[in-house]
Amino acid sequence: MSLLSTTLNLVTEAKLDATIQFSQSITKLNPNPKTIFLTGASGFLGGYLLAELLEQTSAQIYCLVRADNKINAQQRLQQHLINYGLWQDEWKLRIIIVVGDLSKPLLALSEQDFNQLAKIIEVIYHNGAYINAFHSYEHLKAANVLGTQEILRLAGLKQAKAVHFISSMAVFFSKASLQSKMIIETDLPIADGTLKGGYKQSKWVAEELVRIAQKRGLSACIYRPVRILGHSQTGINGNMNDALCNLLKACIQLGTYPLLDARINLVPVDYVSQSIVHLSQQPTSSGKAFNLFNPESIEWNQLLDLTKELGYSLTALDYKQWQQQLNKELNLFPKNKAYIFLSLFFRSPNALMMKKPPLDARQTLDGLKNSPLYCPPVDKKLLSIYFDYFNKINFLNKK
Ligand SMILES: NC(=O)c1ccc[n+]([C@@H]2O[C@H](COP(=O)([O-])OP(=O)(O)OC[C@H]3O[C@@H](n4cnc5c(N)ncnc54)[C@H](OP(=O)(O)O)[C@@H]3O)[C@@H](O)[C@H]2O)c1
Repeated sequence: MSLLSTTLNLVTEAKLDATIQFSQSITKLNPNPKTIFLTGASGFLGGYLLAELLEQTSAQIYCLVRADNKINAQQRLQQHLINYGLWQDEWKLRIIIVVGDLSKPLLALSEQDFNQLAKIIEVIYHNGAYINAFHSYEHLKAANVLGTQEILRLAGLKQAKAVHFISSMAVFFSKASLQSKMIIETDLPIADGTLKGGYKQSKWVAEELVRIAQKRGLSACIYRPVRILGHSQTGINGNMNDALCNLLKACIQLGTYPLLDARINLVPVDYVSQSIVHLSQQPTSSGKAFNLFNPESIEWNQLLDLTKELGYSLTALDYKQWQQQLNKELNLFPKNKAYIFLSLFFRSPNALMMKKPPLDARQTLDGLKNSPLYCPPVDKKLLSIYFDYFNKINFLNKK
């Protein structure tokens, strides 16, 4: 498993096939399309996005799903929404399965099916991606970069289609971008050699491909969430491989936590999915980028104080001491998944302790101003909902 790509030049990686062109442009987004194409519906955010699109539009939703056949894909997607408590039987007729793969040319569809799909769909939500904090850019390129290129190819065929691309705030986690006084939505993330980590790099290149397509006439919006965690009311979280969740779990199992100078920003999945769908329905959103973060983030040490208030017995250690304890425990319990994850995580280019400038979300707030949507703060109430869910699924006890 390689962690770093030594000769990688992200700027030269961001080349959009010259045959992908956009003959007509859309200046105003259609709030109620008849057909939508969604990728990544079988994932965490994707499940909530699918439910929100089904609620907020009357569209038929074509979902790209990896599977051996349509029946397995349909069952997998339905079970996925059932697991999140989202499924409604009447949605069955509005969900149309497209068996395919982002990492393959034409999404693994035949040319005829690809053209037919391009003819049918009016708008694309490209949310699918291969998420792994430890894989190299080369490993993630097929799904995240070339997959985005295939989505843009689809958008360019037949009638004009808007593309809603789910990126990540992590595209700004290079030293150069982090030096700015504030990261605003119209800033372009800078990819120099200091943007580390294959996942971030692949999202940066994919975002850049979308910008190249915009210059060729595509109407596209870019959404950049920070870390997405559980639903703000139910705590349901499909992102249990997340570094923060594993860090909290390891701390609780060890009975200690490292004193870190880090600020934790996270957004509940319902805020992200509802905001994306609402923003995508505003005619004036076309061409804009939206930063989706929590205006009330929290210091790591304060988060741990709240965790203690919720009944967990924890002692603070300095970071080095805590790492030594983690390594000792890892030797004693070499199969403990949280310990394994963290020992890899702290050795990989992670952004947890990077100092980040304030983020700005003027376009997002403007786009949401006529909606009831707001991001709940990271406070004791949200944490207690999250810990209740962790306990419900026995996450904190699992070795
Ligand atoms: N989670 C976060 O904290 C976070 C933060 C910022 C941005 N984002 C972005 O939000 C989006 C959704 O993230 P998530 O957390 O929901 O991820 P996730 O739970 O891992 O879901 C990823 C989805 O992409 C699909 N996918 C992956 N490779 C594919 C391929 N080759 N072909 C077709 N589908 C493929 C997966 O399908 P399978 O079910 O078949 O694996 C799954 O449906 C991503 O674009 C991510 O970069 C996430």
